[in-house]
Amino acid sequence: MNGAARQAGLPPSARAAAGPPADGPDGGPTPILRLEGIGLSFGGLRALDDVGFAVDAGEMIGLIGPNGAGKTTCLRVIAGIQAPDDGKVVLAGRDLGRASVDERVRAGLALTHQIVRPLRALSVLDNVALAWGRRRVGGLLAGLARRRRDEAHAAAADLLGRLGLGAYAHHTADKLPLGVFKRLEVARAMALGPRILFLDEPLAGLNSVEARRLADLIRSLNDDGLTIVLVEHNLREVVRICPRLVVLESGRVLADGPAGETIRDDAVIRAYIGEEVIDAGH
Ligand SMILES: Nc1ncnc2c1ncn2[C@@H]1O[C@H](COP(=O)(O)OP(=O)(O)O)[C@@H](O)[C@H]1O
Ligand SMILES: [Mg+2]
Repeated sequence: MNGAARQAGLPPSARAAAGPPADGPDGGPTPILRLEGIGLSFGGLRALDDVGFAVDAGEMIGLIGPNGAGKTTCLRVIAGIQAPDDGKVVLAGRDLGRASVDERVRAGLALTHQIVRPLRALSVLDNVALAWGRRRVGGLLAGLARRRRDEAHAAAADLLGRLGLGAYAHHTADKLPLGVFKRLEVARAMALGPRILFLDEPLAGLNSVEARRLADLIRSLNDDGLTIVLVEHNLREVVRICPRLVVLESGRVLADGPAGETIRDDAVIRAYIGEEVIDAGH
């Protein structure tokens, strides 16, 4: 692993996951994540319909699609927040079945938002230390032995430095500018020591300069070997940093392929008609 991986504070589990993939039953590499035939209805609404795609270790994919396409629901199914009606989520060859959210966190899944939304009354440092403790002991900081608490704070301080948040360590989360708050969300997810990181619209609300900076940070985490699934509406940044796109529309996979081609696909362009999106055509 290169020095950049050390810089991002990747835990051993993520470093291991970034290594060469094992051979699958067909002789090819086993994807780190595979969705098979995921289906989910809310009353009469088919939110996910036979959704399937795979992500290889070390890959970064953009999961895109118009509003209401099912992107967040798909992440919630992967994270174990929402049980699907059909299909399965397979992590490194293991069917996650009905594993709980915490079991999935310990298996190496980290999702911003539902799982690691920052606690606004806490300092940036405590926020990250708490996430660090969740992966390791599944408990609150107060419940940790003194030595473990010191360890959590040291690990958190290290991660903050590496994510450019050191100057904010003792600021309260609710007083942060939005760009810094978004970076804190990523730091909390990273503190879980993920093998695969899911980000749900991390660039939302940022201006173009802030969006580019956070996108560059996300890109650098992937450069260091972390597998990332990025849900994002800012197509300019998605196309800039993700080599591959999976496009959802009305709960179905509409397209899956190299970013440059996929974003120019007629069906994909049609799916976005009526949406206000940033022109991805440079
Ligand atoms: N808990 C829920 N109950 C009912 N409908 C839901 C629920 N969650 C999502 N939906 C619906 O499922 C569809 C997909 O939503 P979502 O996954 O949030 O889309 P996206 O993230 O792509 O914008 C939408 O029509 C949404 O209204
Ligand atoms: Mg969403």
